[in-house]
Amino acid sequence: MKTNNIEVSSRDNFGSRFGVLVAMAGSAIGLGNLWRFPYLMGENGGAAFIIIYLVFVFVLCLPIMFSEFILGRRSQSNVFGAFRVLAPGSKWGIIGIFGVLASICILSFYSVVGGWSIEYLVKAVLFDFTRAGSEANHATMFSDFVSSPVKPLLYHLAFMALTAFVVLAGIKKGIEKYTKMMMPMLFVMVIIIAIRSLTLEGAGAGVSYMFKPDFSKVTSGTFLAALGQAFFSLSLGCGTIMTYGSYVSKDENIMKCSAYTSIADTLFAIIAGCAIMPAVFAFGISPGEGPGLVFITLPRIFASLPLGGVIAILFFVTLLLAALTSSISLLEVFVSYLIEEFKMKRGGAVAIAFGIILLLGCFCSLSQGAMSGVKLFGMNIFDLFDYVSSNVLMPIGGLLIVIFVGWRLGKTAAFDELTNHGTLKIPQWLLETVFFIIRFVAPVTIAVIMIF
Ligand code: PFF
Repeated sequence: MKTNNIEVSSRDNFGSRFGVLVAMAGSAIGLGNLWRFPYLMGENGGAAFIIIYLVFVFVLCLPIMFSEFILGRRSQSNVFGAFRVLAPGSKWGIIGIFGVLASICILSFYSVVGGWSIEYLVKAVLFDFTRAGSEANHATMFSDFVSSPVKPLLYHLAFMALTAFVVLAGIKKGIEKYTKMMMPMLFVMVIIIAIRSLTLEGAGAGVSYMFKPDFSKVTSGTFLAALGQAFFSLSLGCGTIMTYGSYVSKDENIMKCSAYTSIADTLFAIIAGCAIMPAVFAFGISPGEGPGLVFITLPRIFASLPLGGVIAILFFVTLLLAALTSSISLLEVFVSYLIEEFKMKRGGAVAIAFGIILLLGCFCSLSQGAMSGVKLFGMNIFDLFDYVSSNVLMPIGGLLIVIFVGWRLGKTAAFDELTNHGTLKIPQWLLETVFFIIRFVAPVTIAVIMIF
């Protein structure tokens, strides 16, 4: 098949527009929305943070998402192959290597947390939270679990097996089919939990913690936090959007699709905040960050909440599904790279990727207990993987991607892809603005923020 003078093979593709949207939203909506956004928002001045975050998402990150999408769809190739197709004989393929490494790094610790969510779902079903009693007991329950040598590894294995099962089935019959089932459930569940949380006595304090604009809390760190969160939450800079973009049909509207993904992701983050913070405040607890909030504070709240048992189950199913739809997209980056660059069958590629992530994930998991003494740059393996992917690989990947689109691929090709060869009527000023951001604003902003 020949498209745009570019040779492409007949590859598996998404079958419908809805399929593309849910898969992209599935990648974006994940643990980042549920345990980081609500907390960051509260810490950084509530509505003040939302405003900064929205500007980053829609002014800066959306054009980066367009860029990734353009590269994937135009090349119809994996993260590495895309640059062979679009810049033959050059060294730009290094961007693809960054993408593959970033996705491996993220998935290694992400899948461990995915495993924790399975264990906590089991605990919710068995009513373990009710039995645990005080916050201290919940904290001990969590630390005993994550530091034990065997159980978290088994759950990590189970989570990766679920991820691999979906990816093995391919794009249409795997990723599209399952994300289409999971994403609507995810929204319904988080809305139910938010209603329960918002109707608790004393919920108002949580609502004002989240939404009351407090500009005095805005510091330079707020901007850094907002950009980092926007990158992570929109799955930018590590090739997932590029990879999914390569399975999207040539008549799909890239700008619309990316905008819907960003809106869904932001909406979900805000609803997740409404599901968590009002309950935390209603119980007079101070909101902690990350794992502590989700695996210690919330179970304690579920234990004493009317209807808490049901809400706990709903919450951990939500957490599990959100993690799963993101990890699927991360695994597909690696798998499509192995299939196309090493001429592997999907089964073989999934097996190899699964094995590598399983092994790296074991180290991440053990670094919470048996291997906690192993430190590099003062961090244990889990934190190191998190740090390297979020602070090094993703921003550098994003930076190189916008530089490639802005300076190497060029305006004509980018507009050609954004307008589907001129068939979509997109105002010229909008295209020009987007390209200006891709060419100048995005690289400078990412570079400045990385340096500081
Ligand atoms: N966006 C996901 C989240 O918010 O949890 C995490 C993620 C998925 C990051 C896929 C990067 C990625 F490629």
